[in-house]
Amino acid sequence: MQRSGQKNLEACFYSFIGAKNMCGIIGYSGNREAAPILFSGLKNLEYRGYDSCGIATVHGNALHLKKDAGKIDEVHKKLSLDALPGKCGIAHTRWATHGSVTKENAHPHLSSSGKIAVVHNGIIENFQKQKDFLTSKGFVFNSDTDTEVIPNMMEYHMKKGYDFIEAAKRSLKHMEGQYAIVAVNDEGRMVAARKEAPLVVGVGNGEYFFASDVTAFLEHTKNAIFLEENDLAAIDGGLKIFNLDKNEFVERPVSKIQWDAEQARKGNFDHFFLKEIMEQAEVIERISKMDMKIIKEIAAEIRKAKGIFIVACGTASYACMTGLYLFSKIAKTHINFCLASEFRHFKHFLSDKSLIISVSQSGETADTLSAIRAAKSMGAKVISITNSEGSSLARESDRAIVHRAGPEIAVNATKTYTSQLAVLSLLAYELDNRLDDGLEELRDASRYIYYLTSDNARKFVKGLAEILKDKEHLYLIGKGLQYPTALEAALKIKEISYIHAEAFAAGELKHGTLALVSEGTPCIAFTSEETESEMLNSIMEVKARGAFVIGIGPKRSRAFDFFIKVHEAGDFNPIVQIIPMQILAYQLALLRGCDPDKPRNLAKSVVVK
Ligand code: G6P
Repeated sequence: MQRSGQKNLEACFYSFIGAKNMCGIIGYSGNREAAPILFSGLKNLEYRGYDSCGIATVHGNALHLKKDAGKIDEVHKKLSLDALPGKCGIAHTRWATHGSVTKENAHPHLSSSGKIAVVHNGIIENFQKQKDFLTSKGFVFNSDTDTEVIPNMMEYHMKKGYDFIEAAKRSLKHMEGQYAIVAVNDEGRMVAARKEAPLVVGVGNGEYFFASDVTAFLEHTKNAIFLEENDLAAIDGGLKIFNLDKNEFVERPVSKIQWDAEQARKGNFDHFFLKEIMEQAEVIERISKMDMKIIKEIAAEIRKAKGIFIVACGTASYACMTGLYLFSKIAKTHINFCLASEFRHFKHFLSDKSLIISVSQSGETADTLSAIRAAKSMGAKVISITNSEGSSLARESDRAIVHRAGPEIAVNATKTYTSQLAVLSLLAYELDNRLDDGLEELRDASRYIYYLTSDNARKFVKGLAEILKDKEHLYLIGKGLQYPTALEAALKIKEISYIHAEAFAAGELKHGTLALVSEGTPCIAFTSEETESEMLNSIMEVKARGAFVIGIGPKRSRAFDFFIKVHEAGDFNPIVQIIPMQILAYQLALLRGCDPDKPRNLAKSVVVK
């Protein structure tokens, strides 16, 4: 009785671990040594998870495995991950917020006989049932993960006489939940499959890659096949793709990836986070030069729609919230903002005339995808704004604007946020028939960003970080367009420096949080020409309670104890005012000994709900 109770509890517990399991996976099969390729691919995927990692290769009819808990560099130092023999293999970098991060739970996972290895991203929801069944058949489990049932179920089917690929097909039919997997056996046969988790095939010269995203293999090939739901790809005398739903072989197009490998490297920068901050002037300028046909066509869709929702998660949700203000102010168009994870509660208001605008850097965020699926089930049209061509979001939407900010590797968004803002601003201007004005202002904004990311400007912000580095709490206030900016700035500071930062619509402060302001409490106030006088009231309220006031905006006020001048950019203020805040978050992270690229407990693409 006690044992089974304990078992249920464990099942629950581990399904929770699994549910939070994001991970990066890569497989290689070709004519070169696999381990160095897998190792460098893994490094590029590290942003997806960094609790533990491992590589398995095939050589001399045997699997060779190295894995352990720790960041990739730490594990590599201990085990030399790139030194494994063979021209075929798989690798994994894991992320979990709860439960033990141990060598045993690190991937790849082997079948009982050690002849099949699997890497997995996602969760097998019914793993306990599978595990009980396999245990009753004599299979032995060495980890607490859900993943381990996959290689064992494959082995079970192989023992029944099915070949490796057929065994994979049959095994996956038993798996409920979400997965992207790559499996390899001791004969060097490889199979990969996806269900509600991203998986892309890189097609090289006589070689193939299977990975969570293209950055894993970009230095080797730019030819990619984005697998569709329930596709299973196998190397079987060349690449064959089989759709498990249709139960037939399918053709999938090869796309040419626009990014290059250099963009996914750190170059001379200490961190991707800083590199990506610095890229923003160029990225914004590039957006101002992109083909505006798509903006015009999508604005036309927006004009036609009856009832518009804009949905996203995390940083992208603050871009959407800014969009709410922009559409109202510039285009006089009403849209509803909703966090993607909350969207299903509002789907009753949808019809086939409704339009959903979804915004997502990765295009793979599970909550965002589930929001658009709910919308589609009600007949609504879906438009997406994403950085990831070929992503599930781009493919499942009726239309997509791919803003091509380039690969964003730091876990926390910077250049994709300002890109999303740029696209939303241009849509608003087009809706007001003033696209050319919008483009001109966007180019001005790009120049202001250039100035704000200069050495001097960064040094100046570092001075502020020195003042704030030991603070426990920080408040941020803004009005109108500056309110979502304050929210995003607070998120950046929290995410990478772990200082508690909370943002408010300035007028709301006096309705509660003012109680927390006392002598020396730092308070960052965003101002603009439009909101200056109203903001001053709120600034005086905190000042009167002894707050240390940091002003960000075009004009200095006597109330400010510290002032960061940012050019007045009108409707484009959100794009420029966030820049010093990204730099502040970066400097705070460094001064507090935090890793700005890989904050604790967070992952870049949250591909499960
Ligand atoms: C995660 C990341 C955030 C990101 C959010 C939405 O939580 O840590 O930085 O803003 O997902 O991601 P998306 O790819 O949909 O923009």
